[in-house]
Parts: sequence; structure tokens; C-alpha cells
Amino acid sequence: MSENQAQHPTQNAAASHAALARKYRPQVFAELIGQDPLVRTLRNAFASGRIAQAYMLTGVRGVGKTTTARLVARALNYEGPHGEGATIDFDEEGVHCRAILEGRHLDVIEMDAASHTGIDDIRDLIDSAHYKPNTARYKVYIIDEVHMLSKQAFNGLLKTLEEPPEHVKFIFATTEVRKVPVTVLSRCQRFDLKRIEIETLTDHLARVAKEEGTEAEPAALALIARAGEGSVRDALSILDRAIAFGSGRIEVGTVRELLGLADRGRIFDLLETVLKGDAGGALSALGQLNRDGAEPGQVITDLADAVHAVTVAKAAGPGSIDPAAGEAERGRIEDLAKRLSMPCWRAPGRCCSRGMTRCAQAPVRSPPPTWFWSGWPMWATCRRPAKLPASLTASARRRSGPRAPRRSGPTCLLLTCHRLRRLRLRRLLRSRRDARARGAQHHGRARPVRCASGHRKRKSGPAQRSR
Ligand SMILES: Nc1ncnc2c1ncn2[C@@H]1O[C@H](COP(=O)(O)OP(=O)(O)OP(=O)(O)O)[C@@H](O)[C@H]1O
Ligand SMILES: [Mg+2]
Repeated sequence: MSENQAQHPTQNAAASHAALARKYRPQVFAELIGQDPLVRTLRNAFASGRIAQAYMLTGVRGVGKTTTARLVARALNYEGPHGEGATIDFDEEGVHCRAILEGRHLDVIEMDAASHTGIDDIRDLIDSAHYKPNTARYKVYIIDEVHMLSKQAFNGLLKTLEEPPEHVKFIFATTEVRKVPVTVLSRCQRFDLKRIEIETLTDHLARVAKEEGTEAEPAALALIARAGEGSVRDALSILDRAIAFGSGRIEVGTVRELLGLADRGRIFDLLETVLKGDAGGALSALGQLNRDGAEPGQVITDLADAVHAVTVAKAAGPGSIDPAAGEAERGRIEDLAKRLSMPCWRAPGRCCSRGMTRCAQAPVRSPPPTWFWSGWPMWATCRRPAKLPASLTASARRRSGPRAPRRSGPTCLLLTCHRLRRLRLRRLLRSRRDARARGAQHHGRARPVRCASGHRKRKSGPAQRSR
């Protein structure tokens, strides 16, 4: 599976440590995870001899673009020990495979467009493309980060890309396909590499951890996979750090500490405290989390994540809960989803997203941060204003009005929504009245008013009466 697999373990230990992402770069298509549609399309194309002259590989960082480009170069030039031709199913190492994998084959030219952006680089490339390959079947040009090429360089490439010599193939890789001119895109066969699913990534991490002789808790691997956000490289580098950090054993606690994450259970405790309107309790919980090493910004992101999980479970049922969530977490999500109605979850979501922005902008991030609470609506602060610091109590009073009755969180939230709706209705009626007045001035008579949907409204409808 790995580049270094064949090496002796003691030799491995003695050798300088290679990053896991590098060490476990797929050597065959079977090792490429989460990109099945791409592999199937390539397999069929190679089997039927319909090999494109140029491929464009796009996708976010670390999902296998460069890896795929090298594998395709190897497949194009595959020459098996029994005389096999181009194929993507190379079980045995072919004549050119080793040199291509080590990046030293004369006919596979890898160019980093980030450092070779100009027309001169492309001119050199085009000139060399006219010469036949030295030993291989095709001359393969892999242009990584192709979106970095200058406009002139892209234009210089167009003619050759449209009608390349028979022995030339181009493979482009980019994270920002929108920066590539459509004229180039239309000359390529495009593959969009997907982010890797959490379960697939977790299985991959488990395999790597096993190969590395490290014991790992499945929940810890799921956490790492989630933190990788679909990127194999990101997940593998976190795993690398986790192995070093946990001295050979990967546990949930150590991974949380490493990632600056708060314990998931404590995030749900915090959410429940806030929902109860216990501002004092929430502030002290937040302070404790910070003292235990959780980043305030990460706490808010986790809160947003928890709110999102509950609303998804509420809308689509318990079956939609992330499989990476543990048994206890799943129970709490289901419980919260049952307890509150959908509109009650809207404000927490909004507040968390506002909190995330404020946290990124805050000069000092140590809690209890006022910017955090200023984001929460009345349902978080109304119930027990006495427990809040003076400045916050004042701002809560300003928002709820000096004589606002103390209400339970969700009721307060619903009232806010109700007030907003009434306010909007009042504004709408006022604008209609103004429009009618303007119409009367213009034509010398009153015109019928149309509502937003285009329907005629009676002059003295129930809405107007309610005003
Ligand atoms: N689909 C995948 N299957 C298995 N491993 C992968 C996959 N994608 C990436 N990797 C791992 O991540 C490493 C980096 O992959 P690669 O260089 O192909 O990413 P990339 O998409 O080109 O990223 P970037 O956009 O940052 O250049 C590989 O060496 C490999 O260990
Ligand atoms: Mg790359």
C-alpha cells in the first residue's frame, strides 16, 4: 500500500520521518479512495480506446488531483511484463512505472504553473511537444495549479491543445477551475474530484493507523476525518500529529485537545444552558471550556454544528443524524429536536453564525466575551438578567424594554418573531398608503393597490383595518 512498505521496519525507523500524506500516496487506482466515478470513467475510456487528448482535474485541496494525474500518466505509458498496453489496472509494475512514480521519467513532464506562469514557459513546452517521446508511448505534460497561468500563456496553449501531436497528452490540475478560461476548458475532458465522505475517510485513517502500528479509537478517527473536511491530505496530517501527540495511541480526548475542540458533551450542556436562559451558567461553562484549552471561536463553531445537527434531525428525522456522532450525542440531538419547534432553532443558528464572524474579528478572544453574548437574542438574556454583568444586563434591558416581563427562552423568541412580523406588516401598509397618495396626486384619483403577489386588494381590507 505505501511507498515505503517494502522497506525494513528498522530501516524505516532510522530513516527520516516522511509525512503520512506522502508516504501513503496511492500507487494504483485501487488505492484512490472516494473517487469511484472518475475511476470508472477512466477504466471504460481506456478499455474502449477513447482516451482524451487533455484532462482537467479539479477539486478542493488534498483530494487526489496530483495523484490521479501521475496515475493517468502511468496508465497511458503502461507497458506490462507480458506486453500489456495502456490500462488503468496495472497489478504489476511496468517498464516505465518506477521512473514515473519517482518523477524522473523523461517523457512525463510535470510543470508547476504557480512558478512557471508566463508565455515563455508555455512556448518551451510547445516546442518540446513536437519531438517524439524518448522511450514511452506518450509524452505526458502534467500542469499543476494550471489556473495560475497568465492570460497570454493560456492563449499560447490553445492551438496545441486543440490539435496536439498524436504522441502528446495533457493533464491539468487545479483547485480553482473558475479561473481557467472556458476556451481551455472546452478542449479538455473534465473530472470534478469530490470531497471524501467522513466514513470513507475514517476507514482510510484506520487502515493507515494500523499500518503504522498505532492503536486508535474509532471515534477519535471519526473526529480527525471530520476535521479534515473531506481532504485526505488534511486528515492524514492531523493523524500524523495525533500519533506524535498521543505517543502511539490515538484517543478522543487527545484528539480534542490537539484540535482545540471542546468535549462534545459539554457543547450540548452549554447549548441546553443557553436554551434554558441561564446566562450565568452559560458564561461560567464557557469560561471553564476556555480554561480547559478550547478555542472560543471553535466553541461557537461547535455550537453552530450542534444547532445544525438538531435542526437537520428535526427536519429530516433521526435517520439524518451524522453517523460519526456517538451514541450519547445522537441521544441528545434526538432529545433536543423533540423538545423545541423548528422556528425556535432559527435564532440560535443566526446567533452562532454572527458569533463566528465576531470571534474572527475580536482583538481579544478570552471569555467571557461580550461580543459573544451581544449576539444572542433575548431568550438567552431575559430570563435572569440579574446574573449577567451590569453592561450586558443594560443592553438586554434596552433590547427587551425596561418593563419587559420575564419569559422563558423560546416564548421570548417567538414573541420577537411575532413583533418583527407586525413591524413588517406596518411598513408594508405605510408604503401602500404612500403609493396610493402618490397615484392620487398624479392622476387626480385613487388607484387600486396591488400587493406583492400582484393581486388587487380591497381598499378597506382586514389588513388595513388591523392597522
Ligand atoms: N483520493 C485519495 N485517496 C487516497 N489518498 C489520497 C487521496 N487524495 C489525496 N490523498 C492523499 O493526500 C496526499 C495529497 O494528494 P494530492 O497531492 O493528490 O492532492 P491534490 O488534490 O493535488 O491537492 P492540492 O490541491 O493541494 O495540490 C496524497 O499523497 C495522498 O496521501
Ligand atoms: Mg496537487
